[in-house]
Order: sequence, then structure tokens, then C-alpha cells
Amino acid sequence: MLFKQQVWLRQKLLVLGSLAVGSLLYLVARVGSLDRLQPICPIEGRIGARGQAEFPLRALQFKRGLLHEFRKGNVSKEQVRLHDLVQQLPKAIIIGVRKGGTRALLEMLNLHPAVVKASQEIHFFDNDENYAKGIEWYRKKMPFSYPQQITIEKSPAYFITEEVPERIYKMNSSIKLLIIVREPTTRAISDYTQVLEGKERKNKTYYKFEKLAIDPNTCEVNTKYKAVRTSIYTKHLERWLKYFPIEQFHIVDGDRLITEPLPELQLVEKFLNLPPRISQYNLYFNVTRGFYCLRFNVIFNKCLAGSKGRIHPEVDPSVITKLRKFFHPFNQKFYQITGRTLNWP
Ligand code: A3P
Repeated sequence: MLFKQQVWLRQKLLVLGSLAVGSLLYLVARVGSLDRLQPICPIEGRIGARGQAEFPLRALQFKRGLLHEFRKGNVSKEQVRLHDLVQQLPKAIIIGVRKGGTRALLEMLNLHPAVVKASQEIHFFDNDENYAKGIEWYRKKMPFSYPQQITIEKSPAYFITEEVPERIYKMNSSIKLLIIVREPTTRAISDYTQVLEGKERKNKTYYKFEKLAIDPNTCEVNTKYKAVRTSIYTKHLERWLKYFPIEQFHIVDGDRLITEPLPELQLVEKFLNLPPRISQYNLYFNVTRGFYCLRFNVIFNKCLAGSKGRIHPEVDPSVITKLRKFFHPFNQKFYQITGRTLNWP
């Protein structure tokens, strides 16, 4: 009897001991992650806050929840005044490239406590009707933020639209411009897949990629096909360089953002003069999605919508080879201009 009681007691102690050790380990891990989430480094001076009082990132992190509420449109004039909220013109714009990973980049940058994203594509500079509404209309489309934060918007059509560089230059000639690119043939197929899906949704038939990408008369690459033209990155970039020096651009490797997002994001933080605050904790690989998803804190995680990361249709390998050969010289020029070599085939 006594022996049985001793065994029972030992087992109880073992369970309690493991629980205590487990809780301790959890607390240690939690404190570590909180530290990463709510850094106390001041951002004053690093993102161009002119003469504003020091504002710790920790406070910005705490106020994000509040900003989220305001973004839903429930903000009163009183709250704006009380919280010192502003709608700021963007200090950086993700100008493209369509299907390069623009949404992933914006959402991932939004993990940074000093960044506030414009959720929707605003299409101010590429759409004449919107542009005619004036800069105040554009500013009013921006999310509420604290003056110490920076607003970022993304509209991938900006990269390929003729009038946009001059219009952005007129708004802010020292703005920072982010371009996320993928291997040009993959990007073109991704572009095609998006259009194909739209047609299928409307029960419409569509051409095969091969038919659009290759001119049936010459058997050469069809440069009139928009998905091909968009992937000639250097042609578009050259137009932008008439207005902005190359130092104002940062090239993000969209293929690496898929497989290894953190180092790409750290390069962007540096380019934007932001203290490094996005960490591996904020990014976790979701096996079901096959992509990295975002972790804002212990409670709030999110993956991108299902429209990001579509399965591409199979494409004739000879067409892929032809396209890669076609893009090769343009890619070389792109590397040369930007100073970023991307090892595309
Ligand atoms: P695919 O759908 O071809 O895979 P954009 O936002 O500019 O439209 O780009 C969409 C692309 O972002 C997707 O193209 C996908 O590969 C890429 N992407 C990069 N990181 C992603 C992520 N974490 N989750 C989902 N898609 C991501």
C-alpha cells in the first residue's frame, strides 16, 4: 500500500515538475518574442520625422491595433485630433512589377511598426480620371498613421504606364521607389494565369499561353503581347531613369521573397532607413499554402489570399527556352543598370 502511494506521489511530482519546466521555457520564449515585437529603439531622425519628439517603436507597435480600427473607417474627428493621426502621402511606393510579388512585399513590410500600408491599389498616377482629382484626393485615400510612421502604397501598373514617372516626380522628387521582379518568363506565365483565371470565372475560353507568347507567322517571341512586354524590365526602367536617379530605386528579388523572405526584407529596411525590426518570428512557412505567411503577434497570423500563389499551366518547354533566350540580353542590361545580378537563365 505504502509502496503504491510512493509511486503515485513520484508520478505526481514528475508531472508537476515537467509542467513547471514547460511553463518556464514558454515564458522565456515569450519574453524573447515580445522583445522582438516591441522594440524600444527610437526611430527619430531615421525616417525623416522632422523635429518631432522621439517616439519609441514599442509605442507604435501597441498602437497598431488602434490604427487597424481606424482603417475600417470608424474614425471620428475627435479621435483624429486626440491621437494625433494623419493621412500622409507615401514616402515609398511599390511601383511594380505586376505578379512580381507586390502584395507579399507590401504585407511583409507592414509588419514593421514604423510602416503603414495603403490596403488598396490606389491607381492615382496611372489613371487619368483619378489623377485629375488632385493630390488631396490621393492623400485622403491614405490610411491613418502617426506622424512618425511612413505610408507605403503599391500599384503595379505604375511601372509600365508612360505618364507615371513624371507625375510621381511632381509629387515628390526624392520619393523611394521599390520594384519587385521575378524571372521574366515565370512572371509572364503568372500574368497569363491571372488573366486565364478571370476568363474562366466568366465561363469564357482563352488562348493557350504558347499561342499568345509566340507570333505564329514568324515563330518569334510576340513583343506585342502585354505579358511579354511587361517582363522587359529594362525598357520600363529606362523611362523612370529620365526622372529619378538609380539610387532612388531598390530592386527586390521576387523569387527569393518566396523562398527566403527575411533577407530581402532586411535589404528593404536598410533602403528605407528603417531600424531592422522584421524578424524570422514574423514569418513562418505554411506547408498547406506552400508559402511564407505573416505573424504579427501570438494571436494574429495571416497568409496571403488564395489568388496569390496560383498553379501555373504547363507550358511547352521549347517556348520557355525561346522566351528565356529572348529576355537574356534585356536581363543583362537590367543587372548592369541596377547593380543587382539575379542569376536568371
Ligand atoms: P503566382 O500566383 O504566380 O505564384 P502580385 O502580388 O504582384 O500579384 O504577385 C503574386 C505573386 O506573389 C504570386 O505569383 C506568388 O508566387 C508571389 N508570392 C510571393 N510571396 C508570396 C507569399 N508569401 N504568399 C503568396 N504568394 C507569394
